[in-house]
Amino acid sequence: MQTIFSGIQPSGTITLGNYIGAMKQFVELQDDYNCHFCIVDQHAITVPQDRLALRKNIRSLAALYIAVGIDSTKSTLFIQSEVPAHTEAGWMLQCVAYIGELERMTQFKDKSSGKEAVSAGLLTYPPLMAADILLYKTDLVPVGEDQKQHLELTRDLAERFNKKYNDIFTIPEVRIPKVGARVMSLQEPTKKMSKSDPNQKAFITILDEPKVIEKKIKSAVTDSEGIVRFDKENKPGISNLMSIYSILGNVSIEEIERMYDGKGYGDFKAATAKVVVEALAPIQQRYYELIDSEELDQILDAGAEKANFVANKMLRKMRNAMGLGRKR
Ligand code: AQP
Repeated sequence: MQTIFSGIQPSGTITLGNYIGAMKQFVELQDDYNCHFCIVDQHAITVPQDRLALRKNIRSLAALYIAVGIDSTKSTLFIQSEVPAHTEAGWMLQCVAYIGELERMTQFKDKSSGKEAVSAGLLTYPPLMAADILLYKTDLVPVGEDQKQHLELTRDLAERFNKKYNDIFTIPEVRIPKVGARVMSLQEPTKKMSKSDPNQKAFITILDEPKVIEKKIKSAVTDSEGIVRFDKENKPGISNLMSIYSILGNVSIEEIERMYDGKGYGDFKAATAKVVVEALAPIQQRYYELIDSEELDQILDAGAEKANFVANKMLRKMRNAMGLGRKR
């Protein structure tokens, strides 16, 4: 069986973007792959976090992984900071990475632009992400399109390490969904939907209540043409809503165009909200059953144990390859 690794930051409640771009694929893949799903809390602290909110978001994200359908008997679910090999391997890979290539990362440029103080961690987070992936001999990384560049860097670092030290890393492939790889902001539809967007109206979280979802979709920015037609370039707002409808409602884009031919945006937005509410209802129900349960702690304890075992084996190989410590 091939191996999958993917992570999500607990930097807020996950959005429809994270769900459609990443989590939904995880569920589809877990029967056919040896999967590792990670709550990457050390990535989240590359930007300031409130400690109580972070703790809450870590637990909430763990419950959401299970609520969307991750089966802990098939997949390993764990918290990054509970597997210390990640940061040690991350440090070693920082020493293999070049500052120039880290500075070229689009996400670094976006997240640091206009900020007075930028943490060094924001710059060096891609090698930590590479460590997350490479520790598990990962063959495939299912992510949204925004992570493609980091994946390319991971491959470069793995190849560089293999060539320079010892051929120990598997070179991972990226898997990006055909539709929904980039769910856009509801307020600025040329920008991706992000859970840490300061404008709450820009994103729908997976835990938003029906009334909130209806309101956010109703106020989504569209265009003045008034025709429900898919055209990403000229109609990014409507096209974004159509993609969401199509994926969550399991209806093709062409079918949506036919269904709303001659109807206005009001009808289409109301129907989109209904599709989203219906898709999220069972996830929300399972989430509230899990969030304060012991079952969730047991899943995370077992996940950390399994992940530590696998990651430590690769970490030993990395230390030996680089000549760190004593030979063991
Ligand atoms: N808008 C999106 N459309 C499709 N996929 C998306 N992903 C994120 N946003 C979209 C995918 O979700 C997974 C987890 O992402 P992450 O939390 O590790 O980091 P991120 O990509 O930085 O996500 P956010 O929501 O934008 O978080 P913040 O606001 O904290 O930076 C990844 O597979 C990502 O591709």
